[in-house]
Amino acid sequence: MVSNPFILSFTLLLSLPILFLLAPRIFLPSNPVPPIPPDDEVHDLSLFNRASSSAVSLSHLSSSRPKLKIAFLFLTNSDLHFSPLWNRFFAKSNKNLYNIYIHADPTVNVSVPGGVFHANNFITSKRTYRASPTLVSAARRLMATAILDDPANAFFALISQHCIPLHSFKYTYHSLISSSTFDYSSSPTESTTESGIRVKYKSFIEIKSRDKRLWKRYTARGRYAMMPEVPFEKFRGGSQFFVLTRKHALTVIKDRTLWRKFKKPCYRADECYPEEHYFPTLLSMRDPNGCTHYTLTRVNWTGTVNGHPYTYRPFEVSPQLIQQLRQSNNSQSYLFARKFTPDCLKPLMKMADSLIFRD
Ligand SMILES: *[C@@H]1O[C@H](CO)[C@@H](O)[C@H](O)[C@H]1NC(C)=O
Ligand SMILES: *[C@@H]1O[C@H](CO)[C@@H](O)[C@H](O)[C@H]1NC(C)=O
Ligand SMILES: *[C@@H]1O[C@H](CO)[C@@H](O)[C@H](O)[C@H]1NC(C)=O
Repeated sequence: MVSNPFILSFTLLLSLPILFLLAPRIFLPSNPVPPIPPDDEVHDLSLFNRASSSAVSLSHLSSSRPKLKIAFLFLTNSDLHFSPLWNRFFAKSNKNLYNIYIHADPTVNVSVPGGVFHANNFITSKRTYRASPTLVSAARRLMATAILDDPANAFFALISQHCIPLHSFKYTYHSLISSSTFDYSSSPTESTTESGIRVKYKSFIEIKSRDKRLWKRYTARGRYAMMPEVPFEKFRGGSQFFVLTRKHALTVIKDRTLWRKFKKPCYRADECYPEEHYFPTLLSMRDPNGCTHYTLTRVNWTGTVNGHPYTYRPFEVSPQLIQQLRQSNNSQSYLFARKFTPDCLKPLMKMADSLIFRD
């Protein structure tokens, strides 16, 4: 026992430098994720610059406006398990109303699923790791490619290989592009014309400022690592899958300031998840009123395991489940849902025409 107060304080003082020596070891990543290779960053920057400058010049061509399209951005590190379902979703639609872009991890041999999916839907992709900024890079790459590819791309829907559509393409397109009642949060006077066409589009992205994990996520790179660009009061959380307007997709690819912070590696991979924070934080800082603050991709976070949401298995797939997953408090319906195991394809296909795409 240390009874002498002098010896006690001396011991404490002595332990301080030892703590500093050990700190890097104690706080070393539990699950280190390699940093983004500088070459990837250079390639991305040149792509983003080309996309943002092309967007500026194209905005002058607004008189002969083409029909608006939805860009579907598939982000995957495996085969697109539900491609037959997506095939049917797209097949029943007008080819001039959508574009498909796929970012597939190059270390995985992702097969071209056929149908509406072609080899030229695959964009130049880089390696991705779970819970790392590489997922943010991949999403930004998809947006930049889609902006460059077609000036008619008006909405950018980020989709994973575990996502399924909950409605027909027609319903999805109408909800995003022309419905004046789909989104409960927008005021009809501000956002529609007399003919009911929404003139001021919003991004459907979840933005949460209250979450008990937010502080841990904020400090995952160090207590002051996000300062001064992102004070804690401005740090947000949200879902990884969203639908952004073209304006916001441009905001995302033009951003350098926040990206410098969010691309930094975290001490612990299990408290990082930059893909759940970068987009909501950036858009809530730049244009909070241009976002609905909720997502159209239904996820079941009850009983989450290792940061993964609940994953539905074939025996749970039923017409009742689809109806249940559509129910939203913020809009007329959710449009997409995740996650499902690959073998859910069979029961989903069985009710594709009779239920999912029947609206
Ligand atoms: C992908 O396919 C190529 C050629 O078929 C093969 O050489 C390579 O090992 C495969 N890679 C993986 C990760 O399976
Ligand atoms: C969400 O997952 C839980 C299991 O963790 C399940 O009991 C519940 O029914 C699911 N909710 C929906 C809407 O499917
Ligand atoms: C809708 O709101 C009710 C009441 O607050 C809540 O119990 C329910 O979980 C919400 N549904 C969704 C899909 O968020």
